[in-house]
Amino acid sequence: MTQLQLLCSFTGSNICWAFLLAVLTIPIYSLLLLMSNISRKGAHLHQLLPPGSQGWLPIVGETLEYARPNQSLSFMQRRVRRYGELFQSHLFGDRIIVSCNPKTNHFICQHEYKLFKSSYPRSFVSILGEKNVLALPKELHKKVRGALLSSFASSLRTKEYIKDISMTISRTLEQWDGRVICVQDELAKMAYVVAAKRLLGLNEHDPECQILQTLYFELIKGLISIPINFPGMAYHKSMRARTKIAKIIDDMISKRKAAHCNPLSQDFMDALIKLEEESSDAFVTREVTRDSILSVLFAGHDTVSKAMTCAVKYLSDNANVLEMLKKEHIRIEEQVKEGEDLAWDDYKSMTFSNNVVSEILRITNIAPGVFRDAVEDVDIDGLRIPKGCKVMAYFTLNHLDTSKFPDPFQFNPWRWQDKSLSEGTFMPFGGGPRLCPGNDFAKLQICIFLHHLVLKYRFKQIEEDQILYSPYIHFKRGLSTLFETIQ
Ligand code: HEM
Repeated sequence: MTQLQLLCSFTGSNICWAFLLAVLTIPIYSLLLLMSNISRKGAHLHQLLPPGSQGWLPIVGETLEYARPNQSLSFMQRRVRRYGELFQSHLFGDRIIVSCNPKTNHFICQHEYKLFKSSYPRSFVSILGEKNVLALPKELHKKVRGALLSSFASSLRTKEYIKDISMTISRTLEQWDGRVICVQDELAKMAYVVAAKRLLGLNEHDPECQILQTLYFELIKGLISIPINFPGMAYHKSMRARTKIAKIIDDMISKRKAAHCNPLSQDFMDALIKLEEESSDAFVTREVTRDSILSVLFAGHDTVSKAMTCAVKYLSDNANVLEMLKKEHIRIEEQVKEGEDLAWDDYKSMTFSNNVVSEILRITNIAPGVFRDAVEDVDIDGLRIPKGCKVMAYFTLNHLDTSKFPDPFQFNPWRWQDKSLSEGTFMPFGGGPRLCPGNDFAKLQICIFLHHLVLKYRFKQIEEDQILYSPYIHFKRGLSTLFETIQ
């Protein structure tokens, strides 16, 4: 006999049975009600979630399909056709909601901190550092970004600065005369030298400069990789390079601090050291300083060198563009005073060159998109991005949209003449509080490169090569090109 039966037999009352029934029924009923609510809510949420697929493989999801050479664009196009411009997928180890809509992309970037926060794939963060600029939370991010912008503000437009960049570029090109060059590798070296000098005050011949350069080559290879730290894997090699780079940067910071940084000197390292020293509550730690330097030096050369490499490719293939550029740079050369070098105003008057740069950025999509986490539930056109979900604002399809850019795969810098664009249509440098702070620095360098290239050299690609996106752009064979001085 159970205790309940015992209780009833003891009282001999029907009231007891009624009471028992009530005691049992209420919780069962409540439980059923709760379950039906949860499943209704689940179904409701499910209906709200953007459509899409998670792929078959756990962890890997659809990553292999997306990252397969030259498949990223068609991967996105197929899903937009099937599910619309907001869909879900499973990339780089997480469920992710991808936006290919220009307005939504603009909205995502503009609502950094409030509705979204920057959040990059695991491999990217471990290699560039937990405190890399793109991973910093609001207040720290504002300070570090401010330091970078102030170091640019005080120098970018000065004659000395531009002259220095111009000389590095012109000397590099002089060494190419009469030779076949692996353009991709040589421009990566050159852009690295320019960035290391401008950001950290490193000289091309300083031993640290050369060691860091080799290490960065290694580091970049595993940035977007499967984060398995096992010997032989790309990720493992990158992590080893990262450890060595971090140590060198740490030593450089210590040396610079010991030498008491010159209050007038304003490179990025000085600006960060100043922040670190002024931050009495250890808000800006050494780790922040080091990872910021490490990540900005990466961002500051890899992207620019890719844009310049593509410039060589598109100018080799488009004689009409090359001719038009030459005309512009002959005019610029005539306007530069005897014995002087290019100045900011010269750069600003390179209208056609700036159109060439825009066209390169549009067609090549060096940064195909940006990664975020939703800070809270965000509803967009009746669909929900749930709090905590990863988000990718994918710009590439917007840059290749036929309705905005007719014949989008045609390299046509003239399309930029008097072009006005609606929000989100062209975002090669992102947008909102994380808009690329190096965008002027990048465009300035590319224009100076074009200036020396088209005025002084003839160049010809000497073997077929292919642009590969896996998912970031690179040339399969490095773009072998013969350079000769124009007599
Ligand atoms: C063609 C060249 C470049 C392209 C296409 C490019 C593209 C971008 C994009 C799309 C972002 C936004 C990332 C996001 O919102 O998640 C970004 C951020 C950034 N870029 Fe660039 N970039 C270029 C050159 C440079 C250069 C030369 C520097 C050197 C200083 C630089 C430093 C940075 C930094 C530090 C950030 C992070 C900004 C932040 O979080 O506030 N970039 N870049």
